Amino acid sequence: MSKLKGLVLAGGTGTRLRPITHTSAKQLVPLANKPILFYGLESLREAGVVEVGIIVGETRNEVMSAIGDGSAFGLDVTYIGQDEPLGLAHCVAIAREFLQESDFVMFLGDNLIKDGITEFANQFRARRPDVVAEILLAKVADPHRFGVAELDSDKQVIRLVEKPKNPPSDLALVGVYFFDKTIHEAVAAIKPSSRGELEITDAIQWMIDNGKKIGSQQISGYWKDLGQPEALLEGNRLVLEDLVPKMAGTCDEDSIIDGRVVVEDGVRLIRSRVRGPAIIGAGTKLVDTFVGPFTSIGAGCELISTELENCIVLQGSTIEGVSRLEGSVLGKSVTIRKRQILPRATRLVVGDHSIIELI
Ligand code: DAU
Repeated sequence: MSKLKGLVLAGGTGTRLRPITHTSAKQLVPLANKPILFYGLESLREAGVVEVGIIVGETRNEVMSAIGDGSAFGLDVTYIGQDEPLGLAHCVAIAREFLQESDFVMFLGDNLIKDGITEFANQFRARRPDVVAEILLAKVADPHRFGVAELDSDKQVIRLVEKPKNPPSDLALVGVYFFDKTIHEAVAAIKPSSRGELEITDAIQWMIDNGKKIGSQQISGYWKDLGQPEALLEGNRLVLEDLVPKMAGTCDEDSIIDGRVVVEDGVRLIRSRVRGPAIIGAGTKLVDTFVGPFTSIGAGCELISTELENCIVLQGSTIEGVSRLEGSVLGKSVTIRKRQILPRATRLVVGDHSIIELI
């Protein structure tokens, strides 16, 4: 089996997933209490990739402290600094020394492939050297937000267009690409696009135009962070569907856990009910509370006399006397509580770009 290196893109402008977090790299926003990026790293390891180069930009400190030397993931990580986000193909260019002549898989750090990439990596290995690259495609409802592929009647990729106003198909380019060294020639040949980036779609198109064969496979279970709370909730649901139950906390006799629920270390349930799929992070306390399906509660939270469902609550938050929250996303160390003193008015201290819907 030929060795496949990994190139993970975790740079970018530092456009954070507002308003969820102003303080984190978007690739570190958690789904089911685990950063999006970690799923990608785990799926690389599962596919037999060990040597991984990670592109880091403005948020490099955070990304580097979350991943370290990669040994926690069974990976050998090399960080590659990118001063400005000059495009996905620019990332390939600056990783040239790390990649050498190896085949590699490029993985965008804000993409999630539910069932991993092992099957696709094996497919690419099997098709080499007939194909010089293999791309993954997924049917999406909003192709204008992605790179879009046009296939001929034999399902061969004939054209790729980046974020087209009039998409030629509903097949979006997924953020996982397999390449051999031909990509370096392509990257050197292309010019920046109208948005000033070296586009990977242009580099792949260059290879097609130069008679190279590009394999493609359609996948399901694809999710990408599109910066909206609704999209984040959708990604959270996708991951929670596969939850393997675990009970590492304590539960009093008046509490009930239904269905697939992960209860981490030090969690305490007091007169509370959790209906899965749901995850409750380490050290969190639930008192007289109902946590409904598709909810992720981070570590060190306190929920008292509260009901919620289909929500993401990040670490260190407190919710008291609130019923009921649905489809909500709360950042780190947020406090929401029913006001017990007069006057009975809603009182808010809300950060920039927040969204509050009152009843
Ligand atoms: O997610 C799939 C889409 O990713 C594809 O359908 C598009 O064809 C492809 O161009 C790309 O589009 P985006 O505009 O969504 O890419 P974005 O700028 O969000 O960057 C994707 C990831 O790569 C993100 O985690 C940040 C990182 N990145 C991006 C650029 C441009 C870098 O590390 N350096 C960069 O220069």
